[in-house]
Amino acid sequence: MKHADLDAFKTDQTVETVDTSRKIRVGIIGCGGIAHAHMRSYLVQPDVEIVAAADLVPGRAENFMKSFGVENVRFFPSGAALCEAQPSLKLDLVSVCTYNRQHAPCTIAALDAGINVIQEKPLCVTLDEGIEIMKAQRRSGKVLTIGFQPRFDANMQMVKKIVQSGELGRVYYIQTGGGRRHGIPIGNDASFIREDTAGVGALGDIGCYSLDMVLNAIGYPKPLTVTGYKSDFFGKNPAYYANSGMDPKLSEAFGVDDFAAAFVRLEDGCILDFRISWAIHMDTPGDTLLLGTKAGLRIPSTDCWNGSVGPLTIYREENGQQTQTVVPVIPQPPRHGDVDHMWYHKIRDTIDAIKTGGTSPVPIEQIIINQAIIDGILRSSECQHEVSVEIPEL
Ligand SMILES: NC(=O)c1ccc[n+]([C@@H]2O[C@H](COP(=O)([O-])OP(=O)(O)OC[C@H]3O[C@@H](n4cnc5c(N)ncnc54)[C@H](O)[C@@H]3O)[C@@H](O)[C@H]2O)c1
Repeated sequence: MKHADLDAFKTDQTVETVDTSRKIRVGIIGCGGIAHAHMRSYLVQPDVEIVAAADLVPGRAENFMKSFGVENVRFFPSGAALCEAQPSLKLDLVSVCTYNRQHAPCTIAALDAGINVIQEKPLCVTLDEGIEIMKAQRRSGKVLTIGFQPRFDANMQMVKKIVQSGELGRVYYIQTGGGRRHGIPIGNDASFIREDTAGVGALGDIGCYSLDMVLNAIGYPKPLTVTGYKSDFFGKNPAYYANSGMDPKLSEAFGVDDFAAAFVRLEDGCILDFRISWAIHMDTPGDTLLLGTKAGLRIPSTDCWNGSVGPLTIYREENGQQTQTVVPVIPQPPRHGDVDHMWYHKIRDTIDAIKTGGTSPVPIEQIIINQAIIDGILRSSECQHEVSVEIPEL
C-alpha cells in the first residue's frame, strides 16, 4: 500500500464545543475500581452534575464521592434502590460499574426507570441476560452504551477502515484473542474471580475486547456454531497466588475460567479462531490475524486490547512480489486533563447522543453478538461438543 492510500485512513481531529445550557444529571451504580475512571471522565465534562451513587458495601459510595470532593450527592444501598428513587432524582444517565453478574439487573432497572445507561463490559454473563437487556433498551427507547472504550481509539478504527476499504478482499479466517502470561485480576472482594460476582473469567473480562475489535471491523456477522473450551488450572492452584505474594486461599474462591479457546463459524462464512488467557505458560497466545482473499492484516498481540499496541502490518502480493506494509501507530490525541481520548469519548459521545436524540456509540445490537459467542463458548465447554447459536429477532 502506498502513502497516498494510507492517507485515506487518517482520522479527523476536530475541535469540540460543548453546549452547557442543559446539564446532564448522572448517577453511579457500583463505586469500586472502574467507577473511578467513569468519575474522572464525567468531571471533565462541563455539562455534567453528579447527583446520586449506590453501592452494596456500606460506606463505599460515600467514601468514593468524598475522594473526588463531590458534594450534594444522594446515596443508596443498591442500584435497585437508586432506580426506584428516579422520580425524585431526575437522572438523565447512570454508569453501571458493578461486577458482571449485576450488569443485567442494574441496567434493566435503570432503563425501565427511564434512565439512559453507560454499562461496563462485558455485556453480562449469559445470552439470556443480554436478550433481557436488549428488550429493556427497546421498551425504554433510551441510549444504552456498552463500555468498550477501545472503540474510540484511532488504531482500532484503522483496523475497521482497512477491512471496510476492501483492501483485504473477502475476510475468510480470523485468529484473535491475546491475554496475559501471569495476570489474574482479583478486584475488590475477589469480585473478578468469584462465580457469584464475575460469572465469567478471562473469556468475558478481556476476551470481549478481542472479539469486539475484529467483529466490529467485519460488521458484526452473527455466529452460527461454537466449539469452546475453558480451563482454570492457574486460578485453582494455590501456588499461583503464593508465588506472587498473594493469599493462596484465593484458589478456593476462584470459580471462573483463566483460559478459553473457541472455533466459531460466522454467518458470512468467515471462521473465527479465538483464544484468551489470564495465565498461561507461554509469552503470548498469538497475534490477531485477518486473512483475506487480497491481503492479510496482522495486529500485534496484547495483554488486553485497549488501544494502540504497535504497528499493524498488511501482507499482500503486488506485481508477483510478496510485500509487507507497516501502518504506523496513530498517536493518542491530547488528554482532557487526566482523561485519555478513549475514555473522554466513551462518556462524551453518549451524552451527545442523549442530548441530540442520537444513537449509542456502542449499541446493544452489536454487543449482543459478542455476548452470544461468549455464551456459546461457556455452553460448549460445559457439554464438550459444538453448540448452535440463536439470537432471537426483537
Ligand atoms: N472498561 C474498562 O476498562 C474496565 C476495566 C476494569 C473493569 N471493568 C468492568 O467493570 C466492572 C466492575 O469492575 P471493578 O473493577 O470496578 O469491580 P469492583 O468489584 O471493584 O467494583 C464493583 C462494585 O459494584 C458494587 N455492586 C455490585 N452490585 C451492585 C448493585 N446491585 N448495586 C450497587 N452496587 C453494586 C460492588 O459492591 C463493588 O463495589 C466489571 O464488569 C469489569 O469487567 C471495565
